[in-house]
Amino acid sequence: MNSRTENIVEEIQAKCNIVDVIGRHVKLKKTGSNYKGLCPFHNEKTPSFVVSEEKQIFTCFGCGAKGSVIKFVELINNFTFMEAVSNLAEEYNIDTGAGIFDNEKKRSIYYEVNKKAAVFFYRAFRGNMNPALSYMAGRGIDDATLKKFGVGYADAAWDSLYSYLKADGADEDVLTELGLISVGKGKHFDKFRGRVIFPIINTRSKIIGFGGRILGSGEPKYLNSQDSKIYHKKDNLYALNITRQDIAKEEQAILVEGYMDVISLYRHGVKNVTASLGTALTDGQAGILKRYTNNVVIAYDSDAAGRAAALRGMDILRRAGCSVKVLRVKNAKDPDEFVKAYGKESFLKLVSEAVPMIDFKLMVERESVDMDTTEGRLKFLKSAASVIRSLSPVEAEVYIKKTADETGISEGAIRGEVQGGSLAVKRDTIAIRRNPVRSGETQADSDMPEMVEKYFIRLILIDASYLKRTREYEEAFTSPAAYRIYSNMKLLYEEDKEIDYRKLADTLDEYDKKALKDIVENIKIADKEESVFAECARTVTLSALAAREDEVLRMLTLTDEDENRDKAEQLSRELLVIQKKKKEVKGW
Ligand code: GTP
Ligand code: MN
Repeated sequence: MNSRTENIVEEIQAKCNIVDVIGRHVKLKKTGSNYKGLCPFHNEKTPSFVVSEEKQIFTCFGCGAKGSVIKFVELINNFTFMEAVSNLAEEYNIDTGAGIFDNEKKRSIYYEVNKKAAVFFYRAFRGNMNPALSYMAGRGIDDATLKKFGVGYADAAWDSLYSYLKADGADEDVLTELGLISVGKGKHFDKFRGRVIFPIINTRSKIIGFGGRILGSGEPKYLNSQDSKIYHKKDNLYALNITRQDIAKEEQAILVEGYMDVISLYRHGVKNVTASLGTALTDGQAGILKRYTNNVVIAYDSDAAGRAAALRGMDILRRAGCSVKVLRVKNAKDPDEFVKAYGKESFLKLVSEAVPMIDFKLMVERESVDMDTTEGRLKFLKSAASVIRSLSPVEAEVYIKKTADETGISEGAIRGEVQGGSLAVKRDTIAIRRNPVRSGETQADSDMPEMVEKYFIRLILIDASYLKRTREYEEAFTSPAAYRIYSNMKLLYEEDKEIDYRKLADTLDEYDKKALKDIVENIKIADKEESVFAECARTVTLSALAAREDEVLRMLTLTDEDENRDKAEQLSRELLVIQKKKKEVKGW
């Protein structure tokens, strides 16, 4: 903050009373020396939101929100700090001078232009004989809903909007930056032509952008405003200006993919809906949703893309602290088509049947494999374990039991996999052990290269011809640093030349450099190259065999011998072969 801003902030704090400002949004009651009310930032039924007139601060003991009057104005309006200051300054007649708040002033020009454009589109939609109105009516949206969402129409001419706004004195650069027009060969074109227009309005009732759908079929189906000074897709959600009260009231948000899903659900009386704006859900959007409710039901399209987007979205929502459920749209492409065909009650039934996020993830994993084959069951076991591993121990236990019940895989097998599974059989071998933890070294160093990797790297640095022979054992490179060192050695390698240590070090970042230096300084080979190489090769071969043995053993446990005798026999044979090979290799 520069000193000019500091002065303005001080003046705001001197002139305005936090109780007045908050009192416009929250019903405050005097209790002792403080005021109390229902927190506007989370859902509550008993007041834990306290305003201190003396200290000029607010604190919510429920959700932890707290701060000065400026902070409150920021949070309640979704303002930036500068916007909050600018707004309060204006309200309390504080002179902000020129310069610092130019940005804020510029933004208000952009909002004005968008508003004029929205009015223009709206009038065109309301005019006679326009095809957008009949298109939307054909999609079953009634007039009240269309008005509520401010739906408009961009006619098919090249420059209707441009001519209108230009005559009104708008600046061409502003129109371009807002994505309303484009300029080519000295001519101006409207971006939105022959489309139904969905204004995108933020929670402060400012029009920040537009989405436009083609009438009928054609490409692109939707055209959306690009980001601009006043529009950041990743920090806004569609229709929250209308639906946020419903979301807070229902204590639940239904998150859909498209504008039409929102409008159509709303029209059928399901009002606690919103959509991200033509992008994958972002952390910012999840944070905004969380202001109104903790409970989110994802209701994306029923296709593979919708399912993939749901999987991504739920992790983001969960990270923001939401409790997430997933609704599956049945017998329809998306919520719009569903609610149109089957009505509100049927849709609410889907909502009530929405499954918790973990169940959904497990369901997706299960459906992606063939549970009738041993390979399929093993694959499911592994992916289910990695889903369950992310849970608290208590939750994990619940899902282990549930998964066992539903799949017939034993609880023990699932629990084992969750607790470590194949990781237990890492390349710890007889001859070359993991480097012991030296004093001063921490556990965090455990992702440093292991001995086999170190020996291979040292060998190649001594004699580059070992590079070719090491290729057969590349799977040995499991630690990230060793893998990168090895990969870069391959890149630098030239026939019949040694690898230059300096050059190699130059290709590495600090962490990998440290690992390389450690290898060169501490790994002594002293004329025993051939025997060291043989020992490394033996170690890698053995651990590969051990890993496969482990896998075959687990497949055997999963194979029902009565049902699948052939498979069981084949696995048993493979097991014998592996065990024989292991003996041979140990004898090398
Ligand atoms: P309708 O066919 O009108 O029902 O569309 P929809 O609401 O079912 O949308 P769809 O599932 O096809 O797409 C979901 C959202 O992705 C839309 O609301 C748009 O925000 C965005 N979208 C869809 N098609 C396009 C496109 O062609 N270009 C861009 N930029 N965005 C699109
Ligand atoms: Mn649709």
